[in-house]
Amino acid sequence: MEGMMSIKTLLSLVACLGILAITSCKKEQVIEIPSQITEDRIVVKTDNGPYIGVNQNSFEELQAYKADSRSKSAIYNIGRTATNDEIAALDIDIPPDGIGLPDGNGNAVKGATLYQMKCAACHSENGEGKKPFGALVANDSNGKTVGSYWPYATTIFDYVRRSMPFESPGSLTDEEVYSITAFLLYRNKIIEEDMVIDRESLPQIVMPNQTVFVPDDRENYNSVH
Ligand code: HEC
Repeated sequence: MEGMMSIKTLLSLVACLGILAITSCKKEQVIEIPSQITEDRIVVKTDNGPYIGVNQNSFEELQAYKADSRSKSAIYNIGRTATNDEIAALDIDIPPDGIGLPDGNGNAVKGATLYQMKCAACHSENGEGKKPFGALVANDSNGKTVGSYWPYATTIFDYVRRSMPFESPGSLTDEEVYSITAFLLYRNKIIEEDMVIDRESLPQIVMPNQTVFVPDDRENYNSVH
């Protein structure tokens, strides 16, 4: 009898140990703030991630920011200030008036060759559209296109430079973008085939649909948006 008891006891002990082991193995998310303060940095340690370092001032600013998010934004001491070159590489938007258009020029003849090589596969050989891709050259039945709808010629340059060809955006040189823009304008019967497109001439082109767009001048604009 005593032997049986001790086997039972042993079994329950093993079971308890098992449960204990399972319970203690369960991972907990522990975040200690701050776990260590060095000269000027607070090191925040998480159990499953790297140390995140913030300096003492930033930590205080972070607390202040949390308390009042409208206050000065906290400085986290993460990353670095972008260089002028890095900003210039991203700052490529061209507004309707053409400010920021780059050096160089192009024309529709050069653009025709480029279009066939880099655009026709999706936008069709004549640009009038091939499902599922959109048309770029207006005809009587293909709806809104760059030619019939877009209000500013400069937007064609901006859009093509930043986003086309679809599979390799940013791969065209500025000269190529000028030429393709000229080609699209020519095929839409907006300019002559031999017109040179550059930073001076492009903003002066008046698109057929330009006057249909009107600024929203409602006085209560802000209250309805
Ligand atoms: C791999 C297919 C593909 C290629 C190649 C391609 N495009 Fe596109 N293009 C698209 C798609 C898809 C859209 C629609 C993108 C969207 O709405 O976000 C588009 C949209 C456009 C638009 C906007 C049309 C509109 O009315 O909104 C223009 C302009 C344009 N492409 C020009 C070009 C030019 C110029 C080239 C050649 C340099 C080119 N595309 C090459 C697929 C392609």
